[in-house]
Amino acid sequence: MSVTVNNPIRGRFQSWFLASLDSIFHRIYGQRKIALTHNMPGTIVEIGPGTGANFRYYPAGTNVIAIEPNVQMYDRLTRKAEEHNINLEIRGLKGESIDLDDGSVDFVASTLVLCSVDDPAQVVSEIKRILKPGGQYMFIEHVAAPTGTWLRKLQSAVKPPWKYTFEGCCPDRESWIVIENAGFHSVSLEHFDMQSPFIHIRPHIAGIATK
Ligand SMILES: C[S@@+](CC[C@H](N)C(=O)[O-])C[C@H]1O[C@@H](n2cnc3c(N)ncnc32)[C@H](O)[C@@H]1O
Repeated sequence: MSVTVNNPIRGRFQSWFLASLDSIFHRIYGQRKIALTHNMPGTIVEIGPGTGANFRYYPAGTNVIAIEPNVQMYDRLTRKAEEHNINLEIRGLKGESIDLDDGSVDFVASTLVLCSVDDPAQVVSEIKRILKPGGQYMFIEHVAAPTGTWLRKLQSAVKPPWKYTFEGCCPDRESWIVIENAGFHSVSLEHFDMQSPFIHIRPHIAGIATK
């Protein structure tokens, strides 16, 4: 099934849905986000920021270049930036093709995005391309359960309607393999599980890839 972002109904629904999950995301991912954004520089790129769930972890005054193709996110994203004193520049692009120079960025943040993009390997390749040597890519992603488990079977079963409703979101992507095979100098990656409001949106990975 081919699904793209920006459907006027599903895109708007996803924007509302993400915003309504903001405090839940803070509760379940907050400690890891604090740790992973520790020491981040004053200017960063965020891929797929949605409605700005990560802005509360960035120091006031941070410059964020947001690569976000879904225009239905922009009002909430802008309001969230104002709320947290973030200097926001939205670029209506997909992560598969980013209009930034090679080796021009110190830090890229992206959470819960590789599940939804058209081509995860291409997105991670673009992140690596724009990072300076020594630059960092911080990620949190929900990923596939181990092959053969009841959870992996559930992820496969619910995937078609879930992917349609949430504009491409696949519960069963092995995104850790994409990140580990992208050719970063080092990858520090943790697999973790936690209570999720959606039983099939687990397990997770979190970490930092350094170019
Ligand atoms: C599940 S939401 C996560 C939003 C936010 N990062 C968070 O943690 O709450 C996925 C986001 O990825 C965006 N997205 C989908 N396809 C994309 C692509 N090809 N490139 C960049 N972002 C994309 C969606 O518009 C949406 O904002």
